Amino acid sequence: MSAHGLRVRKAMAEFITRVVAIDPVTPDRIAIAEAAAILQAGQLVAFPTETVYGLGADGLNPIALGQIYAVKGRPADNPLILHIASRDQLSLVAADTPTIAHRLVQAFWPGPLTLILPKTSRVPDLATAGLTTVAVRMPAHPVALALIRAAQRPLAAPSANRSGLPSPTTAQHVSDDLRGHIPLILDAGPTHIGLESTVLDVTCTPPVILRPGGIAREDIEAVVGHLPEAMSEAQRRRSPGTRYRHYSPHARVLLVEDAQAETLQAAVAKALQHNERVGCLLHRLEPDHLPPLVKVIRISRSVTDYAQGLFSALRALDGLGLDVIVVEGVAEQGLGAAVMDRLRRAASPPRQPGLTE
Ligand code: TXA
Ligand code: MG
Repeated sequence: MSAHGLRVRKAMAEFITRVVAIDPVTPDRIAIAEAAAILQAGQLVAFPTETVYGLGADGLNPIALGQIYAVKGRPADNPLILHIASRDQLSLVAADTPTIAHRLVQAFWPGPLTLILPKTSRVPDLATAGLTTVAVRMPAHPVALALIRAAQRPLAAPSANRSGLPSPTTAQHVSDDLRGHIPLILDAGPTHIGLESTVLDVTCTPPVILRPGGIAREDIEAVVGHLPEAMSEAQRRRSPGTRYRHYSPHARVLLVEDAQAETLQAAVAKALQHNERVGCLLHRLEPDHLPPLVKVIRISRSVTDYAQGLFSALRALDGLGLDVIVVEGVAEQGLGAAVMDRLRRAASPPRQPGLTE
């Protein structure tokens, strides 16, 4: 079938998607029980975590897992994270937890740290894309935890976006991408962290960060000591997610890596010369010297705020039908490393010094 044919087939709606508001602190038991019953029946439910919204399925049911790949349009070689709500569930999915993993669990769970561990035979190949390891995390969100408990099984949950688009930080984003394809979205408001969990491989010594995320490298190093800076080629092969361009809006993204006003202005001027519609996502830089035609979103307070608002801002700018979005980079410290990882993946390869397009 042609790529076009595939797209047409995927676009056919199968469900009337219900969006149910749920309290983020004390989730309504009836709403959770209903969502859990849908999951137990092998269907998908989008739910909030502290990082981004997840597209949940019964993590031990191959048919349900297959639906995640179909609904997201996700490549079959990109494995999923299993979400658990208790330490008991860890031994169900992980064959071995090294001492270092226990220390990390103690320090960061529940929270935005995903551990790569050897898998048990209970974990279907579809959850791990055939790998012998499994990704596991315990999310720090009352709705996610209540749902996993009520479903009485680990929940596989990738970010609840169409593959390749920015991850969803609100129920509206999930609905924009997946409406008609899933029966239920639990809406607990915007997510707190705004980008995904840190993925840490603890099957090797020392452990390796496969994806920077909500827990900073510096905080992990405070618990386990120094981590290698970069992934080796072998580790890159073990980290399927790094192979994909990700988090990209439809507009071209130009990243101002050096966060200099001159580089920003040059990028904007060049796009305008080509009659392109331009928007900017700014953090520290002021919009003062930009032409009034340029749409600007500025998230200025802290890198934590920038991380939290990043995907939402990219989606909002993209909704304006722009050709180019020029985005300001940040220093790669703390959460800044995860922000830059996402921005670089949203952008295309560089054409000019200082710019990543
Ligand atoms: O914050 C998060 O992690 C969110 C929320 C919903 O929990 N989930 C999320 O899932 O970001 P997803 O599927 O979008 O990203 C999972 C990442 C991918 O980069 C995938 O390649 C990697 O985890 N991964 C999963 N299993 C792996 C494994 N066995 N070995 C190496 N990488 C793995
Ligand atoms: Mg994702």
